Amino acid sequence: MKKNIILITGGAGFIGSNLIKYLINKNTKEKIISLDNYSSGYKKNHILNENVKYIKGDNKNIDVLLKKYKKKIKVIFHFGEFSRIFQSFKNYKKCFDYNIHHSSKVIEFAKDNKIKIIYSATSSNLGNNGKDENLSPYTWSKTKNIELIKNYNKWFGLEYELIYFYNVYGPGQIMGSKMSAVIGIFENQYKKNIPLTVVRPGTQRRDFTHIDDIVNGCYLAWKNGKQTDYMLGTKKTYSIMQIARMYRTRIKLLPSRVGERRGSTTINNNAFKILGYKAKIDIKDYIKKFINNN
Ligand SMILES: NC(=O)c1ccc[n+]([C@@H]2O[C@H](COP(=O)([O-])OP(=O)(O)OC[C@H]3O[C@@H](n4cnc5c(N)ncnc54)[C@H](O)[C@@H]3O)[C@@H](O)[C@H]2O)c1
Repeated sequence: MKKNIILITGGAGFIGSNLIKYLINKNTKEKIISLDNYSSGYKKNHILNENVKYIKGDNKNIDVLLKKYKKKIKVIFHFGEFSRIFQSFKNYKKCFDYNIHHSSKVIEFAKDNKIKIIYSATSSNLGNNGKDENLSPYTWSKTKNIELIKNYNKWFGLEYELIYFYNVYGPGQIMGSKMSAVIGIFENQYKKNIPLTVVRPGTQRRDFTHIDDIVNGCYLAWKNGKQTDYMLGTKKTYSIMQIARMYRTRIKLLPSRVGERRGSTTINNNAFKILGYKAKIDIKDYIKKFINNN
């Protein structure tokens, strides 16, 4: 029986489930536990392996649900939150409940049990000299967690790493749901042979990062991290319209909407300098392959 434990909140979600697969393939010596409430995660994302255990529940109950494991947990990858910008306007109460209330319990649990927390930060708050943190309930709530984690480090010695994700796409992404992100939406529309919907103006630029690069970055943050912020993007941006055109199909424009950012920002080079991280996959090649296979 493996002794130490890696806890992943949101292990049945897109990034969490891919990280579990990556860790299993790396043959890590720790056991893996996922804590997930299946609000946007799926049982079909479970990795069937004797070293992975799935616990169903809300993060707010982490203390009770993980009580018997807490001494063995060596790191928490905290991914289990309300995870979409646009939907956070429609479900702001749920967003605050999950991202503020529930997450505070995870941060407290990490502090009380002296466990390093690796937090899935968002790049959506980095633009406009940090003012973009106020663009949406999602971005604001995630920014408060970044601040809280850094303050807990100063006040109480909480160990942490902050990994910033940039429009992650690839196998396991949410498809055909309100919680789908842009590449999941485009792929779904392409397969159904309906026009790809681009939110106006279409010139908004994003850095798109393949899930394989992201999980590698998560692993490197755990292994090489020095308690700071790492931007796991590719450093290459495309406008949403450029991305849509890569599918060589019909496009339909949708009205502009609240919370939409103009651009994407990288504010430091820590991922490369400290972690040795460099994204390998360009979305252009990924879309070409997708079209050839569909
Ligand atoms: N996907 C991206 O492009 C992206 C970009 C920036 C940041 N992030 C962050 O990375 C994390 C993972 O994102 P994802 O794309 O895998 O999202 P996802 O929605 O696929 O996964 C989140 C998982 O957490 C679970 N969950 C949500 N709230 C919970 C709670 N209160 N208690 C227990 N489980 C809960 C969901 O059921 C789901 O399985 C999120 O915190 C998200 O904000 C993602």
